[in-house]
Amino acid sequence: MKHSNMIILLGYMGSGKSSVGQFIGQNNNLSYCDLDDYIQEKEDMSISEVFQTRGEIYFRTKEHQYLKEILNDKTYDILSLGGGTPCYAGNMDLIKNENLDSFYLKVDLEKLTERLFNQKNDRPLITAIKSKAALKDFIRKHLFEREFYYRQAKHIINVSNFSVDKISGHILNQLK
Ligand code: S3P
Repeated sequence: MKHSNMIILLGYMGSGKSSVGQFIGQNNNLSYCDLDDYIQEKEDMSISEVFQTRGEIYFRTKEHQYLKEILNDKTYDILSLGGGTPCYAGNMDLIKNENLDSFYLKVDLEKLTERLFNQKNDRPLITAIKSKAALKDFIRKHLFEREFYYRQAKHIINVSNFSVDKISGHILNQLK
């Protein structure tokens, strides 16, 4: 399969952007890039280290710079964004204006809370939240603010109850 537009996966932390992007790439011989991995490689630091040593504003500036670089280079067929990428620095306008097929992977609050509670240590924005109830409250409010951006994606798919395999198939079907 060869698809001419770049596929962009966006959505909240823990929505499966990276797993789905990787799966589609591997099974369809398409090149895949994870924006967080790209940033880590270029900055030679983990995302948590970037937040800790340079701060969030520096991270958002670099995230914007590397997003533009990847979109201009057109090297990759699939790109998964960080959860916050669409919400800063006019990034969503870039994503809408380019020749891109963007997908918002929408996951319900319960599922996000369950998943993220076990993975919060590599996510600087939620590392310090102690209880599941507090995390749920944080996600509810954060998602409310962020959905304004996520909803501007070309395609929105509810993926709460689906496997990576199924979600990938659904994305590819939408592109036919
Ligand atoms: C962030 C999400 C993370 C990463 C950074 C900030 C966010 O990516 O970019 O920790 O603002 O939601 P994932 O969505 O891949 O966890």
